[in-house]
Amino acid sequence: MSTPQPYEERRLPGARVDLSLAPHARPEDDGADVVPDGEIGPTGRPQRHVPEPALIGTHGPATILAVCNQKGGVGKTTSTINLGAALTEYGRRVLLVDFDPQGALSVGLGIQPHQLDRTIYNVLMERAVGIQDVVMRTCVPDMDLLPSNIDLSAAEVQLVSEVGREHTLVRTLRPVMDQYDYVLVDCQPSLGLLTVNALAAADGVLIPLECEFFSLRGVALLIDTIEKVKERLNPKLSITGILATMYDPRTLHSREVMARVVEAFGEVVFDTVINRTVRFPETTVAGEPITTWAPRSSGAKAYRALAREVIAR
Ligand SMILES: Nc1ncnc2c1ncn2[C@@H]1O[C@H](COP(=O)(O)OP(=O)(O)O)[C@@H](O)[C@H]1O
Ligand SMILES: [Mg+2]
Repeated sequence: MSTPQPYEERRLPGARVDLSLAPHARPEDDGADVVPDGEIGPTGRPQRHVPEPALIGTHGPATILAVCNQKGGVGKTTSTINLGAALTEYGRRVLLVDFDPQGALSVGLGIQPHQLDRTIYNVLMERAVGIQDVVMRTCVPDMDLLPSNIDLSAAEVQLVSEVGREHTLVRTLRPVMDQYDYVLVDCQPSLGLLTVNALAAADGVLIPLECEFFSLRGVALLIDTIEKVKERLNPKLSITGILATMYDPRTLHSREVMARVVEAFGEVVFDTVINRTVRFPETTVAGEPITTWAPRSSGAKAYRALAREVIAR
């Protein structure tokens, strides 16, 4: 008969296992470039010329973009961090809003959200807490973060009984609008009240769309929700663009999905397409954007190209 193990070891075998990953070595330049102007890109259209954005002397008022798709794992958080970082390279001041109780945006910038005393939750729910009390600097100059953690999940329930519940986020952001050129809101994967708040605050919606067959299914519902918010809450709202993510140029499937997306949504699809690469999961471990982690990688170049398109739209 085997000797029984101590109770604790049987119950919690994982408790002593360190689940953190060691950061990878900084990658070399992978050489790949974005498609030159005029050549046929992955969208099947000739790449449109987007000029280098002019530098700006003064900042604000900010354009608010909601990064939104009710499907999880499509690249919302990755796109928020990396578009934000790329926009700062063009001299824009950026505020990233983590609007997902998972706090993945905060984690991706090297912050441990469960250790924070105050997050966006407190700004939304407590009148005594101002946004300036909670905004944090990030490792990227000119890019700040309004962090979130699991506390935010309570806001969804508590907001239901608030007066003007759909406009809570826009009220929260108002005091800092003049300090930034872009506010990017990383939405949670649902079309609930938090996401409606993001849409009610936004000038535009950026929809990341994974190049997979099933990803097309939810988009009609998302666009329907955007239309309703526009009609009922926020007449200025429009779709800034659809961003194809996790594109694999080697697979016919990716190319077919891409063709369907362009056929269905036309001009609103960004010329910039984000390829599937392990560099992105690596940057989460590193806790920094790809533009600083691997500045000359194709992923970094792609998000810079996206930033130029966003500024031009
Ligand atoms: N272009 C990409 N290629 C490969 N992996 C990616 C890419 N974009 C994101 N990922 C990874 O996919 C996962 C989900 O991405 P994430 O941005 O968190 O999606 P969402 O916020 O929509 O849930 C993460 O592990 C992320 O590192
Ligand atoms: Mg996310």
